[in-house]
Amino acid sequence: MERILDEEKTIEDEDELSLRPKYLREYIGQKDVKDNINVFIKAAKLRDEPLDHTLLYGPPGLGKTTLAFIIANELESNIKTASGPAIEKTGDLAAILSTLEPGDVLFIDEIHRMPKIVEEVLYSAMEDFTLDIIIGNDGSSRSIKIDLPPFTLVGATTRVGDLTSPLRDRFGIISKLEYYSIDDLCNIIKRTSDVFGVKIEENAAIELAKRSRGTPRIANRLLKRVRDFALVNGNGNIDIDITKESLNRLKVDSEGLDDTDHNLLKSIIYKFNGGPVGIDALASSIGEESTTIEDVYEPYLLQHGFLKRTNRGRVVTEKAYKHLGIDYQKSMFD
Ligand SMILES: Nc1ncnc2c1ncn2[C@@H]1O[C@H](COP(=O)(O)OP(=O)(O)OP(=O)(O)O)[C@@H](O)[C@H]1O
Ligand SMILES: [Mg+2]
Repeated sequence: MERILDEEKTIEDEDELSLRPKYLREYIGQKDVKDNINVFIKAAKLRDEPLDHTLLYGPPGLGKTTLAFIIANELESNIKTASGPAIEKTGDLAAILSTLEPGDVLFIDEIHRMPKIVEEVLYSAMEDFTLDIIIGNDGSSRSIKIDLPPFTLVGATTRVGDLTSPLRDRFGIISKLEYYSIDDLCNIIKRTSDVFGVKIEENAAIELAKRSRGTPRIANRLLKRVRDFALVNGNGNIDIDITKESLNRLKVDSEGLDDTDHNLLKSIIYKFNGGPVGIDALASSIGEESTTIEDVYEPYLLQHGFLKRTNRGRVVTEKAYKHLGIDYQKSMFD
């Protein structure tokens, strides 16, 4: 079956780019984040200063990259993009920083994966807009200081807990993106349908929204597949029947859980007696990376009460047993 969740955060197809809203007013949901950022952008523009460095965090696919580009658009600034793990050496960062023009936005995705030595160079760049680097080799090395134009760093991460505190403290604005409500997802789905030029019934949009794990990227991806089924098996319009049928064929259940979620929950139930189980044991039992479980699968299962985290490990909840149609026996550790 097709995997509905990305493990590879670098996968960005062209569709995703074209579906991205360009301005804050087109960005659906995340009201608090949006309202605050709107004020900070306006204030920065009134003062004719760069926006404070901004950190965006939250699970994959909730719109961090989209928001970073929107911030640059709203500031009427250019955006330069980089990714934490790709900036391997201080020289790489220096090269990026030296291309910045006054007021530019520098977007660093997966900022928690930046090497420590690179991170240390970033501190003074963020704080004083200076670049402090050591050039030359051991014998004749010297430290030089280069002034940088004022700029705004926008960092994105799925793992805010992995950020060092000196780095975190240098962000003036820290915003957490939340899972989207059914209503917001419904609006995103309708917007995307408009972009695609396909007709979608209200109740079909709601059904899709319910099964999208609170995540716009998943909503858009499922919509694309349902659109295929509607085109090949129907008249191209998306109604509730074609939606349910396609989602069942894609093995996305009524709560938006896919095969991997089912595997994960069932593995805890059958192999570990419902838990508690440690993340590494769980990961090897279902053949996934622990980080993938922690970043991609678990947050939604936790938030929706299918899984609980205790200090002894993960425990499957009664709700999950019911959802999977498995008899619930209260664990002795509960
Ligand atoms: N608020 C929103 N309104 C409309 N569409 C959105 C919104 N947020 C995200 N999207 C859509 O979801 C897709 C995924 O968003 P985006 O790539 O910004 O997520 P991300 O948080 O950067 O994910 P990752 O952590 O994997 O990098 C985008 O292509 C965009 O079309
Ligand atoms: Mg992103």
